[in-house]
Amino acid sequence: MIIEKPQQFITPEFLIRAATAAWEVGGAASLRHRVFVEEQGIFQTHDRDEIDHVALPLVAISTIASEADEVVGTVRIYEAEPGLWWGSRLAVAPAYRRIGRLGAELIRLAVSSAHGAGCETFLAHVQMQNVPMFQALHWEAVEEADLHGVAHMKMRADLDFYPPFLEPETGWMALTRRKAA
Ligand SMILES: CC(C)(COP(=O)(O)OP(=O)(O)OC[C@H]1O[C@@H](n2cnc3c(N)ncnc32)[C@H](O)[C@@H]1OP(=O)(O)O)[C@@H](O)C(=O)NCCC(=O)NCCS
Repeated sequence: MIIEKPQQFITPEFLIRAATAAWEVGGAASLRHRVFVEEQGIFQTHDRDEIDHVALPLVAISTIASEADEVVGTVRIYEAEPGLWWGSRLAVAPAYRRIGRLGAELIRLAVSSAHGAGCETFLAHVQMQNVPMFQALHWEAVEEADLHGVAHMKMRADLDFYPPFLEPETGWMALTRRKAA
């Protein structure tokens, strides 16, 4: 569960990295439930599937006094066949959307980490309202697809814009442009 904080306690730094600690993995699962089950209603009871057994979860973590606090963004990546990677379950907590490019930073870590692990093609099924965002981030539309009864666009990342990144567990720091709502 995301605990809302008074704005003065929200520091403008976010850690963007692979989830390794149990609280990070649990935080990503909890955020996914909140967004895809409770907010969007795409899944009725839970959004877990067999891909979770093989996928690497990535997270955006808020900080307090530069210390990791809680998971406020997530996405997962996995290699479906040699060289072919997929990203899915991209979610940013509502109060943290459009404040610091957290979604864009998660996408950058997802594709760059896959690229660093030998990815030749990186795909995602993108909800239609997010297609312009992905296009702005150098993804191209492949074809429309229906997933879980919701219209999606299958999209492919241009790997030229996502240089290989070899340390997803370390990740990087991202700064907000404005405070969370
Ligand atoms: C989609 C989502 C992950 C985006 O996260 P976010 O942190 O708000 O995105 P960012 O702030 O990194 O946005 C990056 C850029 O894309 C823009 N953008 C964000 N969402 C957009 C959208 N739906 N359409 C067009 N542009 C969008 C932002 O304004 C920003 O542009 P700027 O840098 O020029 O200001 C978030 O809105 C979310 O969790 N939505 C609910 C779940 C969902 O839809 N998941 C994705 C399934 S495909």
